[in-house]
Amino acid sequence: MKALVLAGGTGTRLRPITHTSAKQLVPVANKPVLFYGLEAIAESGITEVGVVVGDTADEIRGAVGDGSRFGIEVTYISQGAPLGLAHAVLIARDFLGDDDFVMYLGDNFIVGGITDPVADFQSGRPDASILLTRMPDPRSFGVAELDSGGQVVSLTEKPEFPKSDLALVGVYLFTPAIHDAVRAITPSQRGELEITHAVQWLIDQRRDVRSTTISGYWKDTGNVTDMLEVNRSVLEGIEPGVEGTVDDSTEIIGRVRIEKGPRISSSRIVGPAIIGASTVVRDSYIGPFTSISENSRIEDSEIEYSIVLRDSALVGARRVDASLIGRGVRVLPAPRNSFAHRLVLGDHSEVQIPS
Ligand code: TTP
Repeated sequence: MKALVLAGGTGTRLRPITHTSAKQLVPVANKPVLFYGLEAIAESGITEVGVVVGDTADEIRGAVGDGSRFGIEVTYISQGAPLGLAHAVLIARDFLGDDDFVMYLGDNFIVGGITDPVADFQSGRPDASILLTRMPDPRSFGVAELDSGGQVVSLTEKPEFPKSDLALVGVYLFTPAIHDAVRAITPSQRGELEITHAVQWLIDQRRDVRSTTISGYWKDTGNVTDMLEVNRSVLEGIEPGVEGTVDDSTEIIGRVRIEKGPRISSSRIVGPAIIGASTVVRDSYIGPFTSISENSRIEDSEIEYSIVLRDSALVGARRVDASLIGRGVRVLPAPRNSFAHRLVLGDHSEVQIPS
């Protein structure tokens, strides 16, 4: 069995972060979200992994390398344009050969891994199997309708009137039957080859399509709100520990991990939180559910429920909440006596100011 990990795409919902970097590499508790998926794949016993890459290919290659550090062997598959999840399967044909495979969306996060669904698939070996999760309002997801025996009857992408509360999780298990399906379908209204259409094609051909409903936590980290929520969830389980330098006038409360080399002074850190290597925190408050990446500077600021990527500075920023801050960002105090905001923002940036 192989794995196909999708790490291309456009990432419009995470702009401006995705103007300059891959959304799959945004860190959750200071580790790229994609790494959690690769670890789950390795844990399930799969070693041959194809990674589909697009515009951000170099960055993904730089981060993942040959996969040896995860115990897997990575083959990169270049997708010329993000033409859909089923298109990714289409272009991966040579890599996949006639093997069964698990398709894993590189920006998805699943607690509990995929070991059980992979083992179930291998023992039952239906033509395809999808993972589902119950959602009170599944309208912004693919939604599955099952018959009384648990067979999948239909899949609908973002339905206005969902036929069930079962939303598609970004993990699919396929036999080579899927290759006929991705060749048979045509692009959707949004111009993409949809994997839901390919699975629906299998159902229409009376192939055996089953599902597993997972009870564990699952999130698609494609937007800021969900990214912060996954960060919260992962931080709740981090191993606390202090490897940096913390002065006597700093107070550390709860589950806090301070990685190698940060210097923390005259500050209050309330966990769960993580501070990356070589970061400086001075005269600041870092509140729950905050991840600060390496080589950043937090001075005279308050921040909580946020993610700060590396090499960024927050100085005199009171108070930052529910924010995703990119790499090399500088938030600095305006010159004295100025009540104006002075902003230099990239395309598609979003700033919410107190009014
Ligand atoms: P999506 O989040 O559905 O699509 P997207 O990345 O284009 O994002 P947005 O909707 O914000 O514009 O993609 C799910 C995963 O699959 C994600 O890791 C990107 C990847 N992907 C590809 O590798 N190739 C593709 O053609 C598409 C559409 C997505």
